[in-house]
Amino acid sequence: MYVLGIEGTAWNLSAAIVNEDDVIIERAATYTPARGGIHPREAAQHHSEHIGPLLREVIQGARDLGIKIDGVAFSQGPGLGPCLRTVATAARVLALKLNVPLVGVNHCIAHIEIGKWKTGARDPAVLYVSGGNSQVLALRRGRYRIFGETLDISVGNMLDKFARSVGLPHPGGPRIEELARNAKEYIPLPYTVKGMDFSFSGLATAAAEAARRYDLEDVCYSLQETAFAMLVEVTERAMAHAEKKEAMLVGGVGANRRLGEMLRLMCEERGARFYLPERRFMGDNGSMIAYTGLVMLKSGVSTPIESSGVRPNYRTDEVEVRWA
Ligand code: ATP
Ligand code: FE2
Repeated sequence: MYVLGIEGTAWNLSAAIVNEDDVIIERAATYTPARGGIHPREAAQHHSEHIGPLLREVIQGARDLGIKIDGVAFSQGPGLGPCLRTVATAARVLALKLNVPLVGVNHCIAHIEIGKWKTGARDPAVLYVSGGNSQVLALRRGRYRIFGETLDISVGNMLDKFARSVGLPHPGGPRIEELARNAKEYIPLPYTVKGMDFSFSGLATAAAEAARRYDLEDVCYSLQETAFAMLVEVTERAMAHAEKKEAMLVGGVGANRRLGEMLRLMCEERGARFYLPERRFMGDNGSMIAYTGLVMLKSGVSTPIESSGVRPNYRTDEVEVRWA
């Protein structure tokens, strides 16, 4: 079975075709804000300008390989409303034109499913950290339940905000990671875990404050150590609570080596296995939507056009996981 999937919840517009074995084609057009963070309408404008050429390229690629597309998947949410609508409109038209089923995919679940596909993880506790989301999830009674999540901003958003406040370019995460490597000392910053949830906005403010008095390298390092320790603590507690013997890291912040290392150590100490997908499957990509659409279609789930409206606040636990 071949499924074409379109991702476009935020900055990255990406379309891909996958089958059960592999990614066949993937193409992307990335929106980079001229200054500051993402502007939802500008991002949507970017997506509508690029979606035609992008889809034409992917469909032509399929034709050249003699592939017949059996379904169209799209990121239905969560994400920025204007971006989601652009993608959903294109997906509906394409499904009608090709006369194949349409399937709306939960973006967070897609991060998890492609991670499992590409690493061989079976039933992990998942730390999903990106610019828009920070959650700890695990499958229980047929749904991806959220065990812990941020009470305010996501960890990626916190890193990007801090970066902006000290004059570093967007996205801040990679630059902070680089600077942190040259640090000499740890500066205490507020560590906030409440029950199973974490909070990052106070940390961003405290770090910006500290950057006026201390070396930027030391602040970047301390910011990472503090924020990541919070994430690792909650992931470990979710593993204990949900009795999971595996952990997996997904989302754009998952590219951070230090975060991966901290999770790996925690897993080693618990005698659990740690899974880290390749970088290209960690951030937002079309293949994750195509692949999740494929497993959904194979389990008999599709989305009729009349219920294919976008869902900017779509939660993972709203989806019944029939394919696991
Ligand atoms: P989502 O829609 O799932 O919320 P997103 O639109 O934020 O995703 P991602 O690619 O998943 O996109 O994540 C982008 C975030 O990842 C940014 O906040 C960026 O700073 C962060 N990031 C990227 N590389 C690193 C890194 N090496 N270390 C820390 N953070 C990173
Ligand atoms: Fe994402």
